[in-house]
Amino acid sequence: MNQRMFLLPALVVLAVTLALGTPGFTGQDQITDKGVKKRVALMFTAQGAVTTLTDMMAGRVAFQAGMARAAQRTLIRSSSKTVRHFRKPHFDPLSNARPEVWTHWTDFKARADASEQAAKQLNVYSLNGLRRTLPSMLQTCLSCHDRYRAKPNEFVTH
Ligand code: HEC
Repeated sequence: MNQRMFLLPALVVLAVTLALGTPGFTGQDQITDKGVKKRVALMFTAQGAVTTLTDMMAGRVAFQAGMARAAQRTLIRSSSKTVRHFRKPHFDPLSNARPEVWTHWTDFKARADASEQAAKQLNVYSLNGLRRTLPSMLQTCLSCHDRYRAKPNEFVTH
């Protein structure tokens, strides 16, 4: 494998780790609103599947088609539930959702749909397939977050 092929996945993994943050970091255990709790839990489920796949892509874990397929299924399922979990504007002081989710609902829905399509288009049959298709799937997470998720602690002023 040449160096460039390795470098790109490594950069993607780094970008995703930085952008998505560490599970638990936002203090999801302290969220009291049930609707917010549910949608954040859904996101962490997706995050878990993404970690499985990025670990394989970066060579931290050996590629296993069965495991990759299971992670893909989780991503398809979680992205297909996103619209349902966000439809009602549940509020919690620890939520990182921007109000634009609900004022730009059609666009938000389109992004959730794009994420689901990208999850379906993942090639989980080989490591090369994963390397080719995972970056654009991750891009759908990041682009929605860019618009609709406040950076953790952005609104904390003290
Ligand atoms: C359609 C928009 C959208 C897509 C697509 C999306 N997310 Fe999110 N995500 C959000 C929003 C909005 C929040 C903030 C929810 C809250 O705090 O109430 C969030 C929160 C999260 C969180 C909780 C941590 C935090 O800092 O808020 C994680 C983890 C996460 N997303 C991972 C992912 C992963 C992984 C993907 C892709 C597989 C993904 N998301 C795709 C909108 C999206």
